Amino acid sequence: MSDKTKTILSGITPSGRLHIGNYFGAIRQHINMTQEGDAFYFIANYHALTSLRDGELLEQYTLDIAMDYLALGLDPESCTFFAQSDVPQVTELSWILGTLCPVSLMEKGVAYKDKVAQGLQPNIGLFTYPILQAADILIYHSDVVPVGADQKQNLEFSRDLAQKLNNQFGEDLLKQPEPHIVEEVAVVPGIDGRKMSKSYNNHILIFDEGKPLKKKVMSVVTDSAELEDPKDPDTCNVFKLLKLFATKEKLSDIADKYRAGGYGYGHAKKELLGEINDYFGEARERRKELEKSPDTIRDILKEGGRKARARAESVMEPIRKATGIIRTH
Ligand code: ADP
Ligand code: TRP
Repeated sequence: MSDKTKTILSGITPSGRLHIGNYFGAIRQHINMTQEGDAFYFIANYHALTSLRDGELLEQYTLDIAMDYLALGLDPESCTFFAQSDVPQVTELSWILGTLCPVSLMEKGVAYKDKVAQGLQPNIGLFTYPILQAADILIYHSDVVPVGADQKQNLEFSRDLAQKLNNQFGEDLLKQPEPHIVEEVAVVPGIDGRKMSKSYNNHILIFDEGKPLKKKVMSVVTDSAELEDPKDPDTCNVFKLLKLFATKEKLSDIADKYRAGGYGYGHAKKELLGEINDYFGEARERRKELEKSPDTIRDILKEGGRKARARAESVMEPIRKATGIIRTH
């Protein structure tokens, strides 16, 4: 049952263009969940700075992601949709949480270690990324945070930090959020069969079309079975991707063709291309319209920012009082 008193919050980092792994793993859930509570979704541009140092590009990605969400069906009337940087209370709370956070807690961070292993510079922002994320979540008294399984530890850090602030300064200052780990979402494979990710450059962009899209789809890695050989759909990357788009009937029809032989990977890839085009066709048209009015996008974010700031201020004010942080204006 829908319970609009429950606050749902999630964020997405604008460190690149969105791909279909992001869509099936996160965006689709965000859009559907606006029915289930008072939803806050934001574009985590401060987090993006830990890996992206190109001002023009960051601004572009931020507006692109806003456009993507709206084109994909997010209704800004049924949620609060905004940019992280429009809520200065987030960085303010982040500092306070940082003063309560033992270094040893952040040293347990697996995402930090992974990112450094991948070659990202080990800067303090990257190290304390989970503290900023905790502030993102706690500043709206969020109840439910829908995220992928890779964010589980960051959610535990958020709960931990809320507890530390409450223990030190007053029980009801922050609320303990519940993670909503979307386990049923399979990891979307990339064109090389590994997890689709912009860091592996194996992704298919949601808003790719025409030749670039065709090129990506045609380069999905398959085994070397010949056209006439029977094939196993369950181990095939093309089929795994088809599963995200095609109807049950169509899938079982294609699976039969795989097993029978005489159906090549080229046929399956054409099928996949058609499915992607159908699935995102309307969103592409909507996006083209939105591109014509960038001011509308900024206005939507502005209005979302106004609502988010009001909520954040109501949570921040008692924290300033309790911690003794004065403001003379
Ligand atoms: P990337 O790996 O491309 O950098 P992010 O880490 O920015 O993607 O992910 C943003 C959101 O999209 C997260 O909630 C993450 O769980 C989800 N996501 C990313 N890649 C996939 C994938 N291949 N399959 C399912 N979900 C994904
Ligand atoms: N760390 C998240 C990711 O990489 C993005 C994010 C930042 C976030 N702040 C958040 C997600 C708060 C949920 C809640 O996907």
